[in-house]
Amino acid sequence: MKRSLLKQKTVMQIGRDYHCEVLSQPLLADYTSIGIGGKAPFMLLLKEMKSMEGLLNQLAGENLPRRILGRGTKLIVRDEGVKDIVISLSKLPTAPRFSGNRVSVASGYPISRLVREAAAKGLSGIEFAIGIPGSVGGAVRLNASSFGGCMEEVVSEVTLFSPGKGVIKRKKSEIGFAYRSTSLGKDEVILSATITLKPSSSWKIQKEISYLQKLRRERQPIGQKTAGCIFKNPPGISAGHLIDALGLKGLAFGGAVVSKKHGNFIINRHSSTAKEVLALIELIKEKVYKALRVELEEEVIIW
Ligand code: EPU
Repeated sequence: MKRSLLKQKTVMQIGRDYHCEVLSQPLLADYTSIGIGGKAPFMLLLKEMKSMEGLLNQLAGENLPRRILGRGTKLIVRDEGVKDIVISLSKLPTAPRFSGNRVSVASGYPISRLVREAAAKGLSGIEFAIGIPGSVGGAVRLNASSFGGCMEEVVSEVTLFSPGKGVIKRKKSEIGFAYRSTSLGKDEVILSATITLKPSSSWKIQKEISYLQKLRRERQPIGQKTAGCIFKNPPGISAGHLIDALGLKGLAFGGAVVSKKHGNFIINRHSSTAKEVLALIELIKEKVYKALRVELEEEVIIW
């Protein structure tokens, strides 16, 4: 049998053994918020968290490289797609488990939904994350921040799968939180997070959430096909502000355009390719460097 056929049978079988939905040749554009990207050979949509460790071990044992896909909201997939198997966490239904001020939540869970559920229980501290379209795992890994709050302030522990070590726990002090990053290894997969909040009145929390939603609607291109902010902010200044000050809003490359609302967003305006978005990113970096001698650094993940 040809190697590719053998591999196909193996992946299908592994998927079934670990109760995943298996997709062959999925178009990754359909799984990213910017709506761009080529295919993967397979996608395994995990349906139960308890299968995760076995699945990761099995793939490693078969020498089948894999990538983890959360909600695909800070991700640009190249037009050629990827050669690795993609494991999607989007079908994991696990509801957050609240206990007192703490909540334990699976990594594929939408962070904004968690904010609303915490509010309903009168738990405050994570309101800043309302409107962040990503998953809890993605938010932890990138130490998502907005409106003065960040994940570092609320995460007390993560459970992760670490190749060679298995399922382990890391306390906040071992996660290496920094601005829009952590020291978690590239191969380590966040399975769940424990978040510690403070009691408050649901009414007060709801008021804050509504206010932050209004700010986001006013300042950011909500509802458009984007990957969120493209660049990290250079120390002490907003990358969006720099891009705006140089008159680069509206700058386009094919179907990709710099948002007129916020300079740090690129919109897939009409059928943009990854090539066009990446070319626009390079163009912005070049112009900002030439004018201001500031090197912008991407925070979006590029596959
Ligand atoms: N500004 C401009 N023009 C622009 C954008 C911003 O002049 O096109 C000015 C604003 O008027 C404001 C300042 O720059 O005075 C800061 O703007 P903003 O409050 O929008 O914050 P930011 O630093 O540009 C960061 C995060 C956002 C987060 C907001 C809200 C980064 C890279 N971005 O943006 O995160 O939502 O703060 O707190 O740190 C994301 O990661 O996807 C994201 C949107």
